[in-house]
Amino acid sequence: MGHDVLCVDNFYTGTKRNVAHLMTNPRFELVRHDVTFPLYVEVDEIFNLACPASPIHYQNDPVQTTKTSVHGAINMLGLAKRTKAKIFQASTSEVYGDPEMHPQPESYWGRVNPIGVRSCYDEGKRCAETLFFDYYRQHRLRIKVARIFNTYGPRMHPNDGRVVSNFIVQALRNEPITLYGDGSQTRSFCYVSDLIEGFMKLMSSSDEITGPVNLGNPTEFTIGELAELVIALTNSRSRLIRLPLPADDPRQRRPDTTIAESKLGWSATTPLAEGLKHTIAYFDRLLAERGDAVRSPRVQSAEIRGAATARNVA
Ligand SMILES: NC(=O)c1ccc[n+]([C@@H]2O[C@H](COP(=O)([O-])OP(=O)(O)OC[C@H]3O[C@@H](n4cnc5c(N)ncnc54)[C@H](O)[C@@H]3O)[C@@H](O)[C@H]2O)c1
Repeated sequence: MGHDVLCVDNFYTGTKRNVAHLMTNPRFELVRHDVTFPLYVEVDEIFNLACPASPIHYQNDPVQTTKTSVHGAINMLGLAKRTKAKIFQASTSEVYGDPEMHPQPESYWGRVNPIGVRSCYDEGKRCAETLFFDYYRQHRLRIKVARIFNTYGPRMHPNDGRVVSNFIVQALRNEPITLYGDGSQTRSFCYVSDLIEGFMKLMSSSDEITGPVNLGNPTEFTIGELAELVIALTNSRSRLIRLPLPADDPRQRRPDTTIAESKLGWSATTPLAEGLKHTIAYFDRLLAERGDAVRSPRVQSAEIRGAATARNVA
């Protein structure tokens, strides 16, 4: 689009490898920086996505997770105020907690445990939303808040324990696929390119559209169906093994995307099978490059072994 892009990351869960292909582009710049510290740069628009996003990662250092959401939001909002930039916040469906409503509309206030192991993420993101709306009311900042539902795609971290990456890594290795409960719990999965299109539509919408706006794919699949689809697409010999359902696992999660459709003209269009094909191709390459004998479960890097044994979390 002809913009100059300054990418800011402390590489807590991200990696330089994911942006290596952009490094020769003169319009792209990469800065290693932690958003919990102030940043002094000149910008017109800010997309604040910095935050570990999977339970394994955000529970690893929960205090830092809250700091990233809260101090990170304060620092980015301060930067937006000084430069008069428009600012986008990557919020999450986790602000709805363990919901009593299904699907969840933006008007639902949520049911979040403030003192549990997930609270560092859920409450951090809720506080970030509060800060965004206070900067909007108090300083007239132009804000755009998106509540993102389960999104997957190439360049995901292989060890983050999320259900899509777990199943793909296990299937590529012909290892047992770990299914929690009877596999009838449902999730809806959004392909990353659809989500980014939603980001761009929200960011270019008129100033009175502040959000929060749900962005996600409302088509529901059971976790059992996801496992079968991954096995079929990878031609895997993996079989399913069933383990007890963890106590805090939501039975269902699905976005109500009426606002995104009516105000942004956006909806997710990539079918799960197509998005999975791109994601499987990425993990296949990644495992092969790491010297992992992808089709043989005997040779495994210790790092990726963690993903296969970790709990599936969506
Ligand atoms: N993927 C999803 O399903 C999903 C769902 C809801 C919300 N989100 C939100 O979207 C954003 C991106 O998520 P993702 O799935 O791409 O995860 P990700 O882990 O791939 O991306 C997060 C990035 O933030 C960086 N980061 C973390 N702490 C930082 C800090 N203190 N300073 C600077 N950079 C920092 C990480 O290194 C990483 O590159 C996150 O804010 C997440 O909460 C994602």
